[in-house]
Amino acid sequence: MMNQSTDRFTFEMTENPYSFYEEIRSISPVYKGSFWKYPGWFVTGYQEALTILKDHRFQTRIPLPETTKKYEALKDIQNRMMLFRNPPDHGRLRKLVSHKFTPAKIEKCRPFIEKIAIDLWNSLKNKRKIDVISDFAYPFASLVIAKIIGIPDEDKDIFRGWALNLIQSIDFTRSRRSIVDGNLTTLEMLTFFKDLIIKRSHSPQDDLISELLHQEDKKLTEEELLATAVLLLIAGHETTVNLISNSLYCLLKNPKEYHKLIENPSLIESAIEECLRYESPTQMIARIASEDVELNNVQIRKGDHVYVLIGAANRDPKQFSNGDDFEITRNPNPHLAFGSGIHFCLGSALARLEAQIAIQTLIQNEGKIELESKEVEWRNLVGFRAMKEMYVHLNH
Ligand code: HEM
Repeated sequence: MMNQSTDRFTFEMTENPYSFYEEIRSISPVYKGSFWKYPGWFVTGYQEALTILKDHRFQTRIPLPETTKKYEALKDIQNRMMLFRNPPDHGRLRKLVSHKFTPAKIEKCRPFIEKIAIDLWNSLKNKRKIDVISDFAYPFASLVIAKIIGIPDEDKDIFRGWALNLIQSIDFTRSRRSIVDGNLTTLEMLTFFKDLIIKRSHSPQDDLISELLHQEDKKLTEEELLATAVLLLIAGHETTVNLISNSLYCLLKNPKEYHKLIENPSLIESAIEECLRYESPTQMIARIASEDVELNNVQIRKGDHVYVLIGAANRDPKQFSNGDDFEITRNPNPHLAFGSGIHFCLGSALARLEAQIAIQTLIQNEGKIELESKEVEWRNLVGFRAMKEMYVHLNH
């Protein structure tokens, strides 16, 4: 597989990344190589992945060259996002919003999230066939994050294009064209959020933007506020859409597990954890070594790039027995789908709750939902696991 042309390799990789992961893991769980013209250490072992994510010597960095002048808006906004900041800035930016995303705060959102799911389902349930992604998961996740951030409902349809462009611009498979598109999208989002900030500074509402704008002492600069809003919007909706569709796909492809959940709905939490492990929406986390580090008998040099392949770590046979089997009662299930260490996903409680509610809503007609085709097409991405579309029949 590794000797094929890049296009063929990318195609096979997006269809089934797991055999590639296994192939390089069998050589070394910390494999030195170069894929899609990105040289670095490709980490497929669970313990090694965990060690790297928790070790401050492996730092985060923006996906564009720091020096680029061509894609200034995209580079500048990435530079101000907590996701791409290191301590001490990282902690300051994260602390300003983290209290909004604790499990207890998110639980309070349950009633409105359930209402969004039910209203959407009621608008679809008489159809014979739907695309779970564009008809349900996108509008659902968009409405939820829009309400939390403070974006009017009627604007939600514009984020899909934004999210698709920004995700493509940070993936290994990106072309120059996708970076240009990412830069244009950033400019559009900045105009949108600047306008929203003006509105919310005059008439605050019960939402995150109003809260951040009206803090007693100004803790965020306007640029940081804009970057935080863009990060939350993209991170908070694109991966959640993929979690919902990947989860339904895993369940429908594994009828025994699906029926277990129908018979025992209290398994929903552990079922979603298994979906997170089995088809992790984020497949790769990039780091750079800030000093020389010895790990697993390999010498990682200062400045080396390290790519943690989460989807591989989550099936490492040293950590998960029968890791290629989908088992909704798996316990314990310490997957790394939300990362680990200081950048552990801020929105994990929200993503979990949204996925649990979405799946419960979609399967409530007791097994009468069927995949149109067992084979689906995956998007041309290697850092994310996302289907292009997912058609199901609703049998009434
Ligand atoms: C299934 C859904 C989701 C998945 C799989 C996911 C995955 C991840 C992962 C792997 C990271 C770590 C990145 C790194 O270490 O470099 C991360 C960070 C982050 N996620 Fe999520 N995420 C999801 C949903 C959300 C939601 C709903 C939100 C927003 C409300 C969100 C906001 C963030 C933020 C702000 C960070 C950066 C945290 C930091 O740098 O301290 N995510 N996410």
